[in-house]
Amino acid sequence: MEQKEQWGSRSGFILAAVGSAIGLGNIWRYPYVVYENGGGAFLLPYLIALFTAAIPILLMEYAIGHKKRGSAPLSYKRLSDRFEWIGWWQVLVSFVIITYYMVIIGWAASYTYFSMGTQWGDDTQSFFLSQYLNVGEDFWSFGGIQWQILIPVILVWALVYWVLHRGVNRGIELASKILMPLLIVLLIIFTIRAITLPGAMDGLDVLFTPDFSKMLNTDVWFAAYGQVFFSLSLGAGIMITYSSYLKKKSDLANSGMIAGLANSGFEFLAAIAVFGALGFLAVQQNVAVTEVVSSGPMLAFVVFPNIINAFPSLNSLFGVLFFGTLVFAGFTSAVSLLEPGISAFKEKMNISRKAAVNWICGLGLLVSIAYTTRSGLSLLDIVDNFVNKFGILFSALVAMILIGWVGKQLNPLRDHINSVSDIQVGKWWIVMLKFISPLILSYILISGTISEIN
Ligand code: PHE
Repeated sequence: MEQKEQWGSRSGFILAAVGSAIGLGNIWRYPYVVYENGGGAFLLPYLIALFTAAIPILLMEYAIGHKKRGSAPLSYKRLSDRFEWIGWWQVLVSFVIITYYMVIIGWAASYTYFSMGTQWGDDTQSFFLSQYLNVGEDFWSFGGIQWQILIPVILVWALVYWVLHRGVNRGIELASKILMPLLIVLLIIFTIRAITLPGAMDGLDVLFTPDFSKMLNTDVWFAAYGQVFFSLSLGAGIMITYSSYLKKKSDLANSGMIAGLANSGFEFLAAIAVFGALGFLAVQQNVAVTEVVSSGPMLAFVVFPNIINAFPSLNSLFGVLFFGTLVFAGFTSAVSLLEPGISAFKEKMNISRKAAVNWICGLGLLVSIAYTTRSGLSLLDIVDNFVNKFGILFSALVAMILIGWVGKQLNPLRDHINSVSDIQVGKWWIVMLKFISPLILSYILISGTISEIN
């Protein structure tokens, strides 16, 4: 057996955890989710989800990984033999996410290139769709693979593979130390440029005008919990795995607060930048801001190229800046999404890290090819929706019930956090994880499932 790997420093761990949290979700998902769900008023469910559920669960995941020092399945197994399966469920969730996540990063990489000379032309929507539709008729036949999409995806896989192959300290930690500061600088430049564009304030008005009437709608709460959990990379075994690489005596509570607040700060800034830019586009096209808002692939790959086309100057540069930001943000998250599978596989099969990296990346690449076929876009939409709501939220809920009620392990985990941390976690933590969050989450999941079926 190899020696258990470790982070070089606590700041390395925090950067890697923040690198996992800050990803595509912060830049293209969060702004739209806020807009859709009440604008400024969304802050209320968002903050409640953050402080009553997400940060407590983040600390719980840290505590499990740090105390039990294993991958998600092994750590849960060490808590109780009956809990191992939830660790595997989380490994599966992260694996499913990575297979489509990589494809989005692949698009972003292509678009960084297309930005030079704004190669997408005037009709950005047709340009994006033509990437998918111009080859072959039968999408399950080999001709259904869209090479212009697959090749950048393979390149991104190769880079992620290389980082993971180098290991926790020389790979993940180093990549996070380089990319995270760079990312923050890029976002700040981008935000300043966006809010100084003509029309930007109209965009911000639309983003922040609160609509309190929506607060009684459970879908809004579903969206808030879904967004916060996805954004902090919870319920996917990642934080358990990452904290298992911490030295025995490392502060947990403080690290969790830093990671939680840094991630929210980043997405807040991203929302301002995105809506500033949308306000600008609306003014240019002489339409209402609400007509240009969109999310997911459409926002980044159809609307943003339009915005960049309309830029007064330096179009190519800002294109590279925006898509480069997406690539960098996605990259450290992608690395983190693979690590639960790698560490679990390594321990279960008793193989070397490098062998586990080969297996998981090889398998992941194969599955991600499905999203580069002609049906890729619709498939991505379905899987993304399903895995976020039911994969992540469900696994977090089950973990809380198992640990709080079945195994009754919250008290020892709290003692563990407090024995290593400066900030002491109070009884509130137990109240949140045992009562408040499971109740709210069960309610949201049940009513969400019902409205999904209807
Ligand atoms: N948190 C990352 C994002 O916001 C991605 C991610 C989601 C990572 C879920 C792990 C689990 O894009």
